[in-house]
Amino acid sequence: MQRMVSGIKPTGELTLGNYIGAIKNFVDFQEKYELFVFIADLHALTTIQDKSKLRKRIKDIAAFYIACGLDPEKATIFIQSEIPAHSQMSYLLECTSYVGELNRMTQYKDKSKDDSASIQTSMFTYPVLMAADILLYDPDFVPVGDDQKQHVELARNIAERFNSRNGEFFKVPEPVIPKAGARIMDLQNPTKKMSKSGDTDKGYILLTDNLNLIKNKIKSAVTDSDTLVKFDKEKKPGISNLLTIYSVLSNLTIAEIENKYTNQGYGNFKKDLAEIVATQIGKIQEKYNQIINSNKLNQILDAGLEKASKIAHKKIMKANSKLGLGRKK
Ligand code: AMP
Ligand code: TRP
Repeated sequence: MQRMVSGIKPTGELTLGNYIGAIKNFVDFQEKYELFVFIADLHALTTIQDKSKLRKRIKDIAAFYIACGLDPEKATIFIQSEIPAHSQMSYLLECTSYVGELNRMTQYKDKSKDDSASIQTSMFTYPVLMAADILLYDPDFVPVGDDQKQHVELARNIAERFNSRNGEFFKVPEPVIPKAGARIMDLQNPTKKMSKSGDTDKGYILLTDNLNLIKNKIKSAVTDSDTLVKFDKEKKPGISNLLTIYSVLSNLTIAEIENKYTNQGYGNFKKDLAEIVATQIGKIQEKYNQIINSNKLNQILDAGLEKASKIAHKKIMKANSKLGLGRKK
């Protein structure tokens, strides 16, 4: 079975964008791949965090993974910081990457544009830690949103460089970008990605939002002044975003939905979409509430830790040895 690795960092509460762009795909992938999914808590420290909020979000993501349908019998779910090999491998890969290539990472460039002096070093080296997260497990594929594709490319380059310096050691993985839903946009500003850091809380839907609030957010999503339910990303970004959400959550094609709402205007379309989103998130919330304070969650994370750490520990020990560190055995 081919292997996949991915993670989400616990920096904000999960949004509908995270669900559609990431978690929902993991749930499909667990059927076909040996899936490792983790909570990338070390990555959260690239910015200063409130400790008790961070700890709550780590557990929340784990609970939402399961509530959204990840099955611990099929997928290995773990917390990144509980496996020291991630940080250790990150250092070895810092010794395999160049400042120049990290400088080219667009996410870093965006974040450091205003004031690089107040940006933590870890924000700069973050893609190397991400490469370590990936390469430790020798995956075939890494599912990520399109904003993370560049980081996976970097991981590939680092793997190839390490292999050419030290002999074949890392598998060189392929990124997998979801076709639909790669980028769910802000409901109020549909040219921007939906994110917890959006300007207004009406622009994003949280998986923890009250169901009525969710419906209202969909109904008050920005559309345009004509009334055609038609996909046109350039001219009709708002309605196109809603069509994408509708399509992913209903398994209907965009064309089927367009046909369904011919000559109906936006009202019915939005009302139906509001129901679809609220119903699906409602089901997720029910499962989340069952698991969040149960002992089962800890058991799942312990089992995931045990399985992942065996692989990671072996790999880091071998990497150290490949590089000539320590004593020869
Ligand atoms: P983040 O919350 O930015 O750490 O993202 C975690 C995962 O969710 C990554 O795979 C992102 O690409 C994905 N993601 C975040 N926001 C969105 C969005 N608005 N649309 C699609 N995918 C998203
Ligand atoms: N950087 C990713 C994000 O912001 C999260 C992440 C960390 C990740 N390590 C990873 C994703 C390894 C895939 C594989 O979304």
